[in-house]
Amino acid sequence: MKFKLLVVDDEKNIREGLAAALQLEGHDVVVAADGDEAYKRFQKGDIDLVITDLRMPGLSGEELLRKINTESPGVPVIVLTGHGTVENAVDAMRNGAYDFLTKPLNLDRLSLLVKRALQNRELVLQHRRLEEELEHNRTFEMFIGNSPAMRKIFDTIRQVAPTKASVLITGESGVGKELVANAIHELSPRKNKPLIKVHCAALAATLLESELFGHEKGAFTGAVGRKRGRFELAHEGTLFLDEIGEIDQNVQIKILRVLQEKKFERVGGEETLEVDVRIVAATNRDLKAEIEKGTFREDLYYRLNVVNIHVPALRERKEDIPLLATAFLKEFAKENNKQIDGIDPRARTALYGYDWPGNVRELRNCMESAVVLAKGSVITLDDLPPTVRKSSESTSIHIPLGIPLEEAEKIIIRETLSAYKGNKSKTAEVLGIGRKTLHRKLAEWGDISGDEAED
Ligand SMILES: Nc1ncnc2c1ncn2[C@@H]1O[C@H](COP(=O)(O)OP(=O)(O)OP(=O)(O)O)[C@@H](O)[C@H]1O
Ligand SMILES: [Mg+2]
Repeated sequence: MKFKLLVVDDEKNIREGLAAALQLEGHDVVVAADGDEAYKRFQKGDIDLVITDLRMPGLSGEELLRKINTESPGVPVIVLTGHGTVENAVDAMRNGAYDFLTKPLNLDRLSLLVKRALQNRELVLQHRRLEEELEHNRTFEMFIGNSPAMRKIFDTIRQVAPTKASVLITGESGVGKELVANAIHELSPRKNKPLIKVHCAALAATLLESELFGHEKGAFTGAVGRKRGRFELAHEGTLFLDEIGEIDQNVQIKILRVLQEKKFERVGGEETLEVDVRIVAATNRDLKAEIEKGTFREDLYYRLNVVNIHVPALRERKEDIPLLATAFLKEFAKENNKQIDGIDPRARTALYGYDWPGNVRELRNCMESAVVLAKGSVITLDDLPPTVRKSSESTSIHIPLGIPLEEAEKIIIRETLSAYKGNKSKTAEVLGIGRKTLHRKLAEWGDISGDEAED
């Protein structure tokens, strides 16, 4: 990625010397001779990093820093300061400068600092791109996914929602089955009527029966008054039968009858009631296997499963991880009043590499704790739960498709180094490169300081 740097100094020698040095490193550099000119240039909106002197005629470096920070907080500003005025630099840091350099300038330090600042900038931009993508992918409120599998599910939802067909949603725990049910209701002509949810596993058979169909006064001990059931409450709306695989055979027969005849009686009642209800059911069980075992009625299965929506496990659609992680990060940063701009590359690799047995629910919890624990403005590997962190310590390295070779090299070297617990000789040896080369690369990426690289 090519970045555009703005160098501001009223001393011509310094500004041009700096520009030349930075251009030699492959950056795109523009210069300004004072604060006003710099601010004008900055407002074009294409600058990724600003290096500015503090004392200048007109708009001072401090004022320029303040303007940039309030208007474009993602753009790092490095301030230059003369000898003996370090206090000014410290003030500038307090006011949001990325870092400072004292004159006369040490070009090696400058180069390292610029690299680090640009890495930071890249993270901010990446995060912003994901956020934009998020806006475009927000198919239904808070329902996120851009993997082919999820796109297909969104299409199916749009197709079946307007109909009255029963839908059976299958998939492991935490994949988002309830969100599918919500979306079906919201996109249906029934959206202004009730969406009633029944958690079938939570209730014993007799209770479930009276919960679903209601009961008359005195139907059983404790039935002190008439109670309307969920089928009645869902009239003209949608009834979501969650964990349908858990229900008792007797209740299965009764549900089957409502599906076939749209009729039922309250428990202990004689009157036959008629309802217009759209049924959406969900299960994380393999109902076909339950049918084989004789615990689930085949006829009910076919009635429920007019349309099947299978939500794949998160590990089968890893493309959704970055987008989901970004969405949850945003949600919890807001909730916790924290300014967090992104997820650093190693943490991202770990999130991607992990298997997510608890699926999206687990990822959501993971991002919540990461946001709460984060000390800096990005999520790092240390902020992730140990189980997730471990996935990055495994013996394989995950390299996303379509990244530049240089980025892949970074991932390989950093991951190997972390696998060997920071042992550089060992890392250089297994990668088949010299120790010097390894040191130079790490210093270039700002992973270690230039001094460390020389020893
Ligand atoms: N695609 C998604 N986009 C945003 N959030 C999601 C997505 N999928 C799941 N979630 C979130 O993950 C959590 C679990 O989702 P949900 O309750 O729908 O899963 P489930 O499949 O019904 O799980 P269970 O079988 O355990 O009931 C919820 O907080 C939900 O908001
Ligand atoms: Mg659920």
